[in-house]
Amino acid sequence: MSVVKFYKEDQQVPLEMHKVRVVQKLFLPNVEERVKNLTEAGNNTFLLQNRDVFMDMLTDSGVNAMSDRQVAASMIADDSYAGSETCNRLLKALQDVFGTKYFLPAHQGRACENILAETFVKKGDVIPMNFHFTTTKAHITRLGGRVEELITEEGLDPDILLPFKGNFDIKRLKKLIKEVGPEHIPFVRIEAGTNLVGGQPLSMENMLEVAAICKENGIMSVLDASLLQDNLYFIKTREEEAKNMSIAEITRKISDAMDIIYFSARKMGFSRGGAIVSNNEKLILKMKTLIPLYEGFLTYGGMEVRAMEAMAVGLYESMDEEIINQGPLFIEYLVKELDDYGVPMVKPAGGLGAHINASKFLPNIPHEQYPAGALATALYIAGGIRGMERGSISEQRNPDGSENYAELELLRLACPRRVFTLSQIKYCADRVKWLYDNRDLIGGLKWEEEPEVLRFFFGRLQAVGNWQEKLAAKFREDFGDSL
Ligand SMILES: Cc1ncc(COP(=O)(O)O)c(C=O)c1O
Repeated sequence: MSVVKFYKEDQQVPLEMHKVRVVQKLFLPNVEERVKNLTEAGNNTFLLQNRDVFMDMLTDSGVNAMSDRQVAASMIADDSYAGSETCNRLLKALQDVFGTKYFLPAHQGRACENILAETFVKKGDVIPMNFHFTTTKAHITRLGGRVEELITEEGLDPDILLPFKGNFDIKRLKKLIKEVGPEHIPFVRIEAGTNLVGGQPLSMENMLEVAAICKENGIMSVLDASLLQDNLYFIKTREEEAKNMSIAEITRKISDAMDIIYFSARKMGFSRGGAIVSNNEKLILKMKTLIPLYEGFLTYGGMEVRAMEAMAVGLYESMDEEIINQGPLFIEYLVKELDDYGVPMVKPAGGLGAHINASKFLPNIPHEQYPAGALATALYIAGGIRGMERGSISEQRNPDGSENYAELELLRLACPRRVFTLSQIKYCADRVKWLYDNRDLIGGLKWEEEPEVLRFFFGRLQAVGNWQEKLAAKFREDFGDSL
C-alpha cells in the first residue's frame, strides 16, 4: 500500500484516495427541533426522518458511496429475466474474488440467512458462531434452533487491546461439538468483522482453524462475509502471516477453506443485494429451490439488475487495499480523538464504525433504562447525528418474557465507506466530547410500544423525566445561536 505522510510529524490524518464528484445537501435542524423530532420518532433513531439528520451514522448498510466505475457499470445492466448478461458478469466477479463456482442471488443478507436456515436448521439444532447478528439469530430461533456464541472472553472486553477480538475460542468450539454432537450442528457460522462486538475482526488463522475443525467433524463451515472487507484490511495490517499477501490472496485463502459463503452486498461490494456462493454443488442444489420461492428467478433473486452490475465492480474494488482502507482509517481517527479525550470507546478501533461504551459513559443509567439507547437520543440532540443502539434494546426478550440484557451496551457510529469528509468526522467528535462533559444531564428511556420481534426497528420509547429538554437548554447556553 502506498504511504502518504504529512510534513509535521504530529499532524498525521487519514488521506482519502478518491475525490467526490456527486454530493448531497445536508440539513441540520436546530436543537429545539431535534428534541421535537426525537419525540415524534419515539426516541428510536430508526424512526427519525433522514431530512432531519445531519450525519447519518446509523449504519453502513446500503449507504456506502459508489465509485464512478460502479455507476458506469450500472448503466449497462441487462434486464432479461432468463440468461441475463448481468447475472453472468456478477457470477464471473464472484468466481474471480472467492474462487467459487456456484452462486445463488438473494435480495439482501438476511434473505441469504433465511435460505440457509430454512434449508439446514431444524428444531433442537445448535449453531455455533463467534457472535450472533440480529437477523441471523432471529431466523435460526424461528426454526427452533439455538445459537451458541463462542467469541473469546477478551472479545467482550471493550478495553483490551488485542488485534483480533472477533476470534472464536477454539477450545470452547471443540468442547461444544463434543457435548452436543456434530449431528446436531448443521453448520458453524463465522462472522467476519463481528458487527455487534464493535466491528472487531477475526484473524485469518482463526478462521482457517475453525474451518478445519468443521471439516474434521463433518460440519459445514459458513462464512458471513458481509463485513469481510474491513476484516481483510485488518488481517493485512495486523497479521504477520498475511503481511506479504495481497488482499485478493487473503480472500482466496479464506474462501477456499469454507463450504458456503454468504454476504450482504449492502456492505461487501458497496452496492445492494446479497449472494450465497459455494464450490459444493450438492449444497447449492439443496438451497436452490427456495430462491424462486422467496426471492425471484435465479438470474436476479430479488435484486435490481443495476445493483448487480455495481456489485460486480464493487467486489473487484473490495480487493484494492487503497479503497478498503478508507473506512478503518476514518474510524481509527474518530476513536483516537474520543479516546484521547477520555470518552470510553471500544478498542482497538474496528471496522464498520466507532463504538462508544454506553455503560461506562452513563454509569448511573441502569440496564433497564437502556443506556445505549439513551445515549443515541442524546447525541441526536447534541448534533443531529444519528447513531444506532447496539445494546439491550437490540436484543430479543427471553421466551419467558424477561429481559435478555446485552453483554455490551454500545452506541455505534457507523462510518459508511467513502461518504463523510474528515471535517464531518471532526464535527461528530466535537459533539460527542460536549456530550461527555455534560453526561450528568442524560437520563434513561422506557418503552411506550414494544414489538415482539426485532423491537429495535420499530419500537417506541419515552424519556424518563424531562432530561432531553434540559440537555437542549444546556446546548443553547453553551453554543448560543449555533445549529
Ligand atoms: C454481519 C451481518 N450479517 C448479515 C447482515 C444482514 O444483511 P442485510 O442488512 O443486507 O439483510 C448484516 C447487516 O447489517 C450484517 O452486518
